[in-house]
Amino acid sequence: MDTLEAIKHRYSCRAFKPEQISKEQTEMLIEAAKAAPAAMGDYSGISLTVIQSEEVRKQIDEETAFSMPMMGEHPTYEATTLMLISVKENKEFSMIPYCNASCMAENIMIEATALGLASVYIMAVPTILQQKTELMKKIGIEDGFAPVVMVAVGYAETVFNWQKEKNIVCKYI
Ligand SMILES: Cc1cc2nc3c(=O)[nH]c(=O)nc-3n(C[C@H](O)[C@H](O)[C@H](O)COP(=O)(O)O)c2cc1C
Repeated sequence: MDTLEAIKHRYSCRAFKPEQISKEQTEMLIEAAKAAPAAMGDYSGISLTVIQSEEVRKQIDEETAFSMPMMGEHPTYEATTLMLISVKENKEFSMIPYCNASCMAENIMIEATALGLASVYIMAVPTILQQKTELMKKIGIEDGFAPVVMVAVGYAETVFNWQKEKNIVCKYI
């Protein structure tokens, strides 16, 4: 799959199979994450946690569902791999941590697509996680870091018709 094809095939999957992805696939997703750009080449304010423990995944799902009922029963959509991106606050340039995290998330999603896996960018879950001190400790989020983006990855439950038009304004000058 070439790059544009992978980019165009990516979509938000919200129903995953219970099978775990392989160790090799996981490593390739991590490699893609680590290849992401970061403002001023400073990677000290960003960290990645790969969550594949079923117990921890279920706890995250349950606790976030409880705190945000509008997200439904399974805010992580029961994806078998949750790649959680955490960042340090940047007092001078507040947008940088979020931009860095999104670049890393997109890299993960494109690589997932290229590997024949499905993914979804989730902001709701880390937003709730930020309030769950005990759970963050259990996951091993370092002091001074806050989770901001989660990319859920796994095998799609159903085949998706990825070809769709998006009404995005693009101006040529
Ligand atoms: C910043 C951001 C936050 C998002 N948060 C969530 C989320 O919490 N839960 C979710 O299911 N999807 C979330 N999404 C996925 C969007 O809903 C999805 O990308 C959008 O509807 C376009 O569909 P597509 O990804 O299939 O192209 C988020 C996407 C972005 C970029």
